[in-house]
Amino acid sequence: MRVIIESSAEKVALWSARYIVEQINAKARYTSSPFVLGLPTGSTPLATYRELIRLHRAGEVSFANVVTFNMDEYVGLDKTHEASYHRFMWDNFFREVDIRPENVNIPDGNAADPEHECAEYERRITEVGGIDLFMGGVGEDGHIAFNEPFSSLTSRTRIKTLTPETREVNSRFFGGDISQVPHTAITVGVGTVLSAKRVMILATGARKARAVRHAVEGSYNHQWTVSALQTHPSGIIVCDDDAAGELRVATYRYFKAIESSASGEL
Ligand code: GLP
Repeated sequence: MRVIIESSAEKVALWSARYIVEQINAKARYTSSPFVLGLPTGSTPLATYRELIRLHRAGEVSFANVVTFNMDEYVGLDKTHEASYHRFMWDNFFREVDIRPENVNIPDGNAADPEHECAEYERRITEVGGIDLFMGGVGEDGHIAFNEPFSSLTSRTRIKTLTPETREVNSRFFGGDISQVPHTAITVGVGTVLSAKRVMILATGARKARAVRHAVEGSYNHQWTVSALQTHPSGIIVCDDDAAGELRVATYRYFKAIESSASGEL
């Protein structure tokens, strides 16, 4: 696992956006197959989306040959609802770049047959050749996508019940009213994320420090589903100093030194 520790959330956004652009452009150099990008919602990736939009406008990247798969969506919210992940993605990213609407995949939280929708989602991922890079955030309790504590680490796309803690944390997107937060969501599984060729998890702010500690120094454990990243051949955590705040000093120094060495700074 690589752990990139930046001094601020803004620098996390710059690093992660640059990494995505490099990956998209690198694939385009050897194949005309689309780049398949897994994407999260939440406040953490917002700055990354802003930077990707800036890089797109600067002519450094095109999303015309990119297929996206979002991690999750609430069950029962209308796509136009302010807190729906459909709305979030279009408002904060897709509308501002040259992505083709038919290349955007977000689970349909209003599907008449939710189980079929989940199976179809996995099928579509397989059909395009799998996900090249899955970007994700992490919950305060270490969840990735909506894979709450004690989710199977081999899980695939399915419906999950949200914990009261997650509903409380996410109520800020529902005017602070927890009763408005859906109880369930469709989410890709931990196994779906780990099947991507590369996985990059973003974590910023002190509230994520415990999750980062469990992800990096803790055991591979279904209580902290983000810890499953330890088994991925190309897993990266990009965090700021605040989110790295619970790492041991030796761990912090190790990752700072090895990344400086890789970039020729040492
Ligand atoms: C939600 C999403 C996750 C996200 C998490 C953290 O629960 N389902 O994908 O990682 O929130 O969000 P934030 O970045 O706002 O802290």
